[in-house]
Amino acid sequence: MRERLVVGNWKMNPPNIADAVELARAVAARPHGGVVVGVAPPTIALAAVADALRGRDIAVYAQDVHWEERGAFTSQIAASMLRGLATGTIVGHSEVRRDQCDDDARVAKKLARVAESGLRPLLCVGESAAEHGAGDATAVVARQIELDLAGASRRGLERLVVAYEPIWAIGTGNPATADHASAAARAVRAALKRAGLDADIVPVLYGGSVSARSVAEFAKADGIDGALVGGASLDPDEFAAIVRAFG
Ligand code: PGA
Repeated sequence: MRERLVVGNWKMNPPNIADAVELARAVAARPHGGVVVGVAPPTIALAAVADALRGRDIAVYAQDVHWEERGAFTSQIAASMLRGLATGTIVGHSEVRRDQCDDDARVAKKLARVAESGLRPLLCVGESAAEHGAGDATAVVARQIELDLAGASRRGLERLVVAYEPIWAIGTGNPATADHASAAARAVRAALKRAGLDADIVPVLYGGSVSARSVAEFAKADGIDGALVGGASLDPDEFAAIVRAFG
């Protein structure tokens, strides 16, 4: 049986570190029904959230890292700087691809660094609205997997998690259908196999407007093992309901 995993991607929320700590405590206080839970706070709150969750069964993820380890990279953080603060990091989120011009070559360099660092990589892939409209979703995610994994050592990817996040579904209130997510998960696993990974043990999460209302169909969708949750992860009760749906 594959691990069932739900991660809250807080993005550029909540408004300050104190509120991030409060949210972390609220997440930790709710029952999770045996599901593995993670939170990805903004960088500035990582240390405080890591402290608040120490000894609790909740993984802390960064939202992004740089591919270099040191040097003149203003505003960036290195994978090694996360030691003691995070056990994993998101790589290739579509908002980072969009706002920081991360293409697959840059995502590949980041993923390679994360794999080498011992952090757990949570790689995001997903098609745009135009690609979706053209019926290209599975081809797009297969290509992203191929390009994004190009430089990473296979040993460093043993704990890889992939989040399938169709860009058109993120933050819109309109999630994909479970069938669409399952088809994408199949394409992801086929591409992972071609890349030499044991795809059957890689958790594939669905992300894009997952809510307490929409989660049930993803929880039973073939090949989907959890969720990457944005907006709804800021409400600890709703997040806990989403987590438990995968239990
Ligand atoms: P959303 O975001 O749940 O707010 O759609 C998901 C994500 O971007 O990870």
